Amino acid sequence: MKRRQSKNSLLILAINSAVVVVLLILVFNFNKELQSLILKLPMDKIAKAETVVNAIKLVLFGILAYIVVRALNFLIFGMFRLRRGFDAPTLVRNVFSIVAFSLLFLIIFTFQFPEANLGALFTTSAIFGVILGLALQDTLGNFFAGISLQADRPFQVGDVITVGSQRHTGVVEEISWRAIKIRTFQNHIVLINNGTAAKEPIEVCPRDNLNARIVFFNTLYTDSPAKTIHVVREAVRETDNVSSRITPIVRIRNLGDSGVEYECKYWLDDYAKYNDTDALVRQRIWYAFRRAGLNFAYPTRTLLVERKHPKGVGDVDGGAIVERLSAVDIFAPLSVDETGMLAQAAVRHVFAPGETVIRAGDPGASMFVVHNGKVQVQINESGRPRPVATLNEGDFFGEMALFTGEPRTANVVALEETEVLEIGHDAMKRVFDTNPDLVESLSFIMSERRQGLVSTVDSEAGATDESAGILSAIKRFFGIS
Ligand code: CMP
Repeated sequence: MKRRQSKNSLLILAINSAVVVVLLILVFNFNKELQSLILKLPMDKIAKAETVVNAIKLVLFGILAYIVVRALNFLIFGMFRLRRGFDAPTLVRNVFSIVAFSLLFLIIFTFQFPEANLGALFTTSAIFGVILGLALQDTLGNFFAGISLQADRPFQVGDVITVGSQRHTGVVEEISWRAIKIRTFQNHIVLINNGTAAKEPIEVCPRDNLNARIVFFNTLYTDSPAKTIHVVREAVRETDNVSSRITPIVRIRNLGDSGVEYECKYWLDDYAKYNDTDALVRQRIWYAFRRAGLNFAYPTRTLLVERKHPKGVGDVDGGAIVERLSAVDIFAPLSVDETGMLAQAAVRHVFAPGETVIRAGDPGASMFVVHNGKVQVQINESGRPRPVATLNEGDFFGEMALFTGEPRTANVVALEETEVLEIGHDAMKRVFDTNPDLVESLSFIMSERRQGLVSTVDSEAGATDESAGILSAIKRFFGIS
């Protein structure tokens, strides 16, 4: 469409210039005849016939100059579009046309009227210019501000900008002599004077830049942050117009009155569609929450009645905890009542990925069973953590310090969101009192684990000796005969 239009205007330009050239040839060839014709005309003889012919020539040359400037404009800015892929700003094209035409016209004028006193003409026009300048102060201000905007090129057609105290936001459609034209997201046109725009701060979101947006949401305090972050990130990254080049960032921005406040930062392929994309992102978050069983927070007032002692989990989620504990190897010999007693005494804790559950060197009077998730046992080797073992659901740890009274031998770090059940000294003592055999199987596991902590020791005999040592240490510590 655009190409056909250009072809048509080129054709019109060519026809016009041909007509003007023919007229000029005629005027030059019939100069004398034209002058005598003018002399015969019933008009004042103030103007000489030669001057009138020169004026006609000036007009014709002027038209030709205009056509040449149009053609040059077409050529130069056409090449610009081909090389850069977008149109040069209208303001630049207009300034070019005016300057080029004025120069050409001045040259033609000097040739046609060599005797004219251009100095006097300029003096008069300078005074006239001052008067005109004062009258057109604002218009000229806008014009020069427009030129400076073009020179700085802080934004281009197609960029999204926010301007002025009223924060007009929209896509730049045109930068003209007088104003910047933006199309708002309500499809309105807003014209901002170049002069105003030059004075105000302008927020620019360039078309060829990865611009980001932030969407906010809240969850209940009972919803796990690790799960929320994972669920939202996956939902948002698959949304239309969300750039696949950068993974969205989901993070907690505040622990608010009504819930945990999150922000989700994502990058857009086409920033001009950010309203639609924000809405779509919120919609995706809603559906993802539904599927994952997460809950949006809304203003609530919760009365909490504090309990004196930490609550055992046995009575909250009894079945699952008893099931988990009875699946732990070392608790297999326990009766149903004994496992139930342990479940009552167990305290449930949740750890975020990367959080330390146990720190080497700390004192410890409890052991843990992994209820959900995964932990890694690490020892420090020349200041760096070396993984020794990974423990999954149903595995236990922290027994060494609990049963021997020595400091913790290793760090235990959550690899993902992990829920552990903590069992204290008293509960274990009750179990040992009724199950003395348990001490023996425990001491064997502990001696094996110790072997893993010291890479140099690998003899079976060593392990057996150590197991016997641990056995007597546990018995001593728990006062078992
Ligand atoms: P404790 O010493 O109380 O604290 C660190 C815990 O890491 C330790 O108890 C064991 O439960 C556990 N641990 C140490 N070494 C190993 C190992 N080689 N394999 C599995 N668990 C271990």
